[in-house]
Amino acid sequence: MELELKNVKLQAGDKLLLEGTVLEDAERFQIDLGCDPEDLSLHFNPRFHDDIDGRVIVCNSRCEGYWGSEQRETHNPFNRGAKVKVTVKLMESGFEVELPEGQAIHFPDRRGLEAVTYVRVRGHIKLGTFKIC
Ligand code: GAL
Repeated sequence: MELELKNVKLQAGDKLLLEGTVLEDAERFQIDLGCDPEDLSLHFNPRFHDDIDGRVIVCNSRCEGYWGSEQRETHNPFNRGAKVKVTVKLMESGFEVELPEGQAIHFPDRRGLEAVTYVRVRGHIKLGTFKIC
């Protein structure tokens, strides 16, 4: 699936809530926040079959089409065929992604963006709820 929101304006204090189900044969899914597909402040990417780490969550930023350095979290609480609930909090200093089991991933704001104007969710999940709060 792919959901793309353009011309939004999300700032520190705003929150995204996503709920859905990971497909049985999923390879990956991602939540991207930034100003366009080539310029992302947060690329949040759970993978189920990564070449290096197998099950892993990869976070990164992207600047004019070039990926930055990856932050890898080898505890990936998502499972193929299971429900997903993720909350992304926007903060002055970056992003706080709340995962199942009380786990949280912090990803710093590398680009100093004033507002997130572009949101994309895509990959091997069936999306249920998507809310901006
Ligand atoms: C690449 C992958 C991209 C993105 C990026 C993150 O290998 O093709 O989709 O996930 O890693 O660093």
